[in-house]
Amino acid sequence: MRSTIGIDSLALGVPRGHLDLRDLAAARGVPASKYLDGIGTHRMAIAAADEDPVTLAASAARRAFALSGLDPKEIGLCVVGTETAVDHSKPIAAFLHGLLGLPSACRIFETKHACFGGTAGLLNALDWIASGSARGRSALVVCADVARYAPGSPGEPTQGAGAVAMIVSERPRLIELDVGRSGAYARDVHDFWRPLHSKDAAVDGQLSVQCYLDALAGAYGEWRRDEPADAEPLARTCYHVPYGKMARKAHRRRRMIDGLDEASADATFAAEVASSLLLPAQIGNVYTGSLYVALASLLHAEARAIEGQRVGLFSYGSGCVAEFFAGRVAAGAGELVARLDLDAPVRASTRLTMAEYEAIRSADAGADRRAAPPSAALHLGASEQPVAFLGVDTADRRIYGLATPS
Ligand code: CAA
Repeated sequence: MRSTIGIDSLALGVPRGHLDLRDLAAARGVPASKYLDGIGTHRMAIAAADEDPVTLAASAARRAFALSGLDPKEIGLCVVGTETAVDHSKPIAAFLHGLLGLPSACRIFETKHACFGGTAGLLNALDWIASGSARGRSALVVCADVARYAPGSPGEPTQGAGAVAMIVSERPRLIELDVGRSGAYARDVHDFWRPLHSKDAAVDGQLSVQCYLDALAGAYGEWRRDEPADAEPLARTCYHVPYGKMARKAHRRRRMIDGLDEASADATFAAEVASSLLLPAQIGNVYTGSLYVALASLLHAEARAIEGQRVGLFSYGSGCVAEFFAGRVAAGAGELVARLDLDAPVRASTRLTMAEYEAIRSADAGADRRAAPPSAALHLGASEQPVAFLGVDTADRRIYGLATPS
């Protein structure tokens, strides 16, 4: 029998709080319809001072293991994609290795290329398994980011925070991915960047939209060239979602490349894309994880109905690189998805007031330099309690431990 490789389990981790974009619109003197319809986002998840890409990654990964029944000891590769790393040298994967109790015989590292870093990890994990290096083990790929733009800037309503953890293995129970068949595109461009001294991203907003669409055309064109004429069409497509409207623009462009006129291309949006944008609209941009939040949203809404069908995936990283690839929803995925309760962390999040949001943002600059309490716990053990960033010790080492119940 042909061996299949893909995503066996998936879980999200999001911060405790979110800002409702109607509150942001009122505070910024903008009609709420601009954010809700024009941008296509309803809420954005906001990371507090004790929440960062490590705590979000740990929370997503613990859920992925707990709900799927897989043992962390079966992991031989752990890759974390992020563009909001917590240290210039020590990777988030190393913090995760300790927090999750991964085996010592394990390759661990962090990948960066703007929002593409998680996809780089995922494609690497597929190749690692296909090459035989895995020797029966699985890979843990986590995308984790806190997306920040300057308060009051056009990018502000496109912030967000969160992580997606994916366990990648042979005979996956969620989605089988086409190994060795993707269309890539790259170009040196300054559409979005984050200087080393800044926690906020800098962006040339309108240029970034154009670069995304050019990259989509390049990557999809490359992928499409190798599609046999009688290939089964893609039933759904998930895009990188910095905000919902961007995915809508991307879908129009892709279907016009297929030869549809604008109206016909737009007419396919509701069936082929809309369900993948429900969760992103509740979380905002999570950079590396955004494509996979879209995939989670699609599976959460429709897994049972699309078992056995093909799904296209488009990943974009500013700077820029993009890749278009595809997979097939596994038989039985619907039943597993019902158990994974993919949107549970989003349902549990609470609405912040504008004043709470402003306080979190103004504390951002000093958040990484808080002194950790001397008694700070270093290891999670078997506890289900959330992990928190407790502060730094006198040598600037980041300390993680159990969150104090609020
Ligand atoms: N009601 C409904 N719609 C309204 C409206 C209203 N009252 N007012 C405006 N709109 C619509 C506009 O018509 C526009 O729609 P179209 O794009 O379909 O024309 C939409 O709302 C946005 O309006 P503007 O273009 O005027 O918005 P803006 O200039 O304030 O900013 C943005 C938009 C450039 C995306 C900005 O939010 C930004 O810079 N975001 C960060 C960068 C980003 O996300 N880029 C995406 C590509 S790069 C990428 O994908 C990587 C990544 O993750 C960052």
